[in-house]
Amino acid sequence: IEYEINPWMSRSKGSDSSRAQSQWQSLKSLIESRGAQVSLLSPVQGLPDLVFTANAGLIWHDVAILARFRFDARRGESPVDAAWFAANGFEVRELPDGMDFEGAGDALFCGETLFAGYIIRSDASAEQWVAEVLGCRVIPLQLVDPHFYHLDTCFCPLDAATAAWFPPAFDEYGQFAIREHIPSLIEVIPEEASRFGCNAVVIGRDVILNSGCLRFEQQLTAAGFVPHATELDEFIKAGGSTKCLTLRLDGEDAAIWPNANPTN
Ligand code: ARG
Repeated sequence: IEYEINPWMSRSKGSDSSRAQSQWQSLKSLIESRGAQVSLLSPVQGLPDLVFTANAGLIWHDVAILARFRFDARRGESPVDAAWFAANGFEVRELPDGMDFEGAGDALFCGETLFAGYIIRSDASAEQWVAEVLGCRVIPLQLVDPHFYHLDTCFCPLDAATAAWFPPAFDEYGQFAIREHIPSLIEVIPEEASRFGCNAVVIGRDVILNSGCLRFEQQLTAAGFVPHATELDEFIKAGGSTKCLTLRLDGEDAAIWPNANPTN
């Protein structure tokens, strides 16, 4: 922990790097055991949050909309991410000046709609711009609790009509919009939202999440999903868990992408 940009981070409570590495390896093996192929981005000295690849950008087919980070501490990641995207066959798009946007951390498809969290890390104007480029509908959702500073900390699309969420992280309008647009919602309890339960990786019906979210695991099972828990407390010290540690490159299971060609 080299700086503090969210309420979970504390320089005085550093992470144990060998524990962190073994937790990361277990997460990678678990993802691979569910049939997914994992591509890696190499670490860079001085960019400790680079591990949270969800924030690198937003993927749409072979387009990567590169993030622009709110805090200087993370801005050095973008050239690294851009080079990785380009080397891996993605067309890299940059946001207009003056707009911040933290990638898949703040923008998640559920069905054809892009749900986008704003104010703490991303700007609603950036999300409107993204939606115009992709030609999709966007629903900007204001985040109100600094502990749930990215959308993926409090909202997890599970399939095109189902999502898990933590309602108190949203303002009243945001709660209304989510209830209005997503037919089936699973409410995560406060203790488990604080264990980053919502920050889950979905691969088909398999859901990979931080350990200690037993109620949420039951809720997932009841809804026809298969939970797989893995300990990631070393990463929670930085304010992240399974979802933040990954970036889905071939389209989230919950996403419906009707238009293969971005419009402009
Ligand atoms: N320390 C990182 C930050 O505050 C954690 C990022 C977690 N990523 C996420 N997609 N929620 O930016």
